[in-house]
Amino acid sequence: MGNELSRRNLLKTLGLATGGLLTLPLNGFAETNLRLYIPDAVKYPAPDKAVTAITLGAGNRGNVYGGYALQFPDHLKIVGVADPNEIRNQRYCQKHNIPAENSFRTWEDVFNRPKFADAVIISTPDNLHFGPCMKALAMGYDILLEKPIAPTEKECRKILALAKQTNRIVAVCHVLRYSPYFIKLRELIQNGSIGELISIQHMEPIQHIHMSHSYVRGNWHNSKETTPIILAKSCHDLDILRWMVGSSCDKIAAFGDLKWFKKENSPVGATPRCTDGCAVEKECPYSALKIYYRERQRTYVFDLPDDETKQAEVILDKLKTTNYGRCVYQMDNDQPDHYTTNLLFSNGVTAAFNMEAFTSYEGRRTRVMGSLGDIVGDMSEFTYTNFLTGKKTDWKLTSDAHGGGDWNLVSDWVQAVSKQNSALLSSSIDVSVESHIIGFTAEKSRLQGKIKKVVV
Ligand SMILES: NC(=O)c1ccc[n+]([C@@H]2O[C@H](COP(=O)([O-])OP(=O)(O)OC[C@H]3O[C@@H](n4cnc5c(N)ncnc54)[C@H](O)[C@@H]3O)[C@@H](O)[C@H]2O)c1
Repeated sequence: MGNELSRRNLLKTLGLATGGLLTLPLNGFAETNLRLYIPDAVKYPAPDKAVTAITLGAGNRGNVYGGYALQFPDHLKIVGVADPNEIRNQRYCQKHNIPAENSFRTWEDVFNRPKFADAVIISTPDNLHFGPCMKALAMGYDILLEKPIAPTEKECRKILALAKQTNRIVAVCHVLRYSPYFIKLRELIQNGSIGELISIQHMEPIQHIHMSHSYVRGNWHNSKETTPIILAKSCHDLDILRWMVGSSCDKIAAFGDLKWFKKENSPVGATPRCTDGCAVEKECPYSALKIYYRERQRTYVFDLPDDETKQAEVILDKLKTTNYGRCVYQMDNDQPDHYTTNLLFSNGVTAAFNMEAFTSYEGRRTRVMGSLGDIVGDMSEFTYTNFLTGKKTDWKLTSDAHGGGDWNLVSDWVQAVSKQNSALLSSSIDVSVESHIIGFTAEKSRLQGKIKKVVV
């Protein structure tokens, strides 16, 4: 997939003289002097008829994908929504002009009606992917499925089997496959620029506040109620490693645990909620009052009223009544806050992956080691060094949103559905189940303290 233009052709097209450094904001990515990769995804024309879809789960991700339909109505039209949260449901209906009869309380209600759209977007919580996905496949819907595919390996395999049997299009939201950063890294690995690929070091810095928000207080704080963090947070990374290496994963050794956000680390004077008069509230970087009330970070989870004068009151109320106001040391959380995974691929390449909660920064760090060159990158830019010439070449990303991946993914999926061709997807259900199995195997290795063989 995708077009490759040589720099010379590009310069010709633009009528520019050759020589010097080229820095162009193209497809969200500026580059210097190597071959330029332009994914087809953003260049597709509108299909003959817009793909119609029903969104199951009108939260954060449902709105990201819904946003694409608002921006490109000739490509995608949202015709129904299910969400038990009335505020979200109503707001979604308003945004997308959804008639009252197509607004549903839960995903089950949608499937009580005969099929009335081309596809469904499954952006419900992790433990509500399997049910709607199986039902949608049985009824002949194509699917955009949020990761993780399902919380257990068995369910993932069942979804794959039914997708094959029904021959439906299922795209899994492994959005990094559509980000210009990883597309370019993979291209350099595969076109021989760094010679033979030897190994990769990859790190996902979650960032300490993000960790406390999502994996200590938030939706993913309990691995048994949702999904182990290696899948919930890092299935993207395992998938991207598999994709870049281009070979199946053979063996895994994983370590890590929950080291910090535990009762025994609770400071003296800490109260069950930050709003209860905690004696150390002002000294705690994880104070809910600091994060949500004073700094207004991540308040999208509170469905704040549009009227800004009423927002403070709602935030305080949520801190008194939801998990977001609880002390990070007194939660019923169990997700590891540091997780290290070593992978051996069938072609002999090794990868070391670290998921780290305690960082001040976000943005994946990647080092790729090859026989003739190496690459060092941080998700927004990377440098390729040619060992023979010593020459360094830099790339810089010029857009955000998962490195530009979110909407590129939807664009591919819309094309795949409208053309009924799953080959247009680079995150199809087949390859995504394989990388999920790598995640489940890593978790087995961590829990059992053993090197595990990956059986796909
Ligand atoms: N691809 C990515 O990069 C990425 C990023 C974040 C989250 N996710 C995944 O996307 C999914 C959604 O995450 P989110 O951050 O949008 O969560 P969210 O909580 O913001 O949204 C989930 C929505 O589902 C609704 N819901 C709950 N029960 C429902 C039911 N029975 N029927 C219909 N709707 C129901 C909730 O009310 C909520 O509005 C999760 O599986 C998550 O792991 C993926």
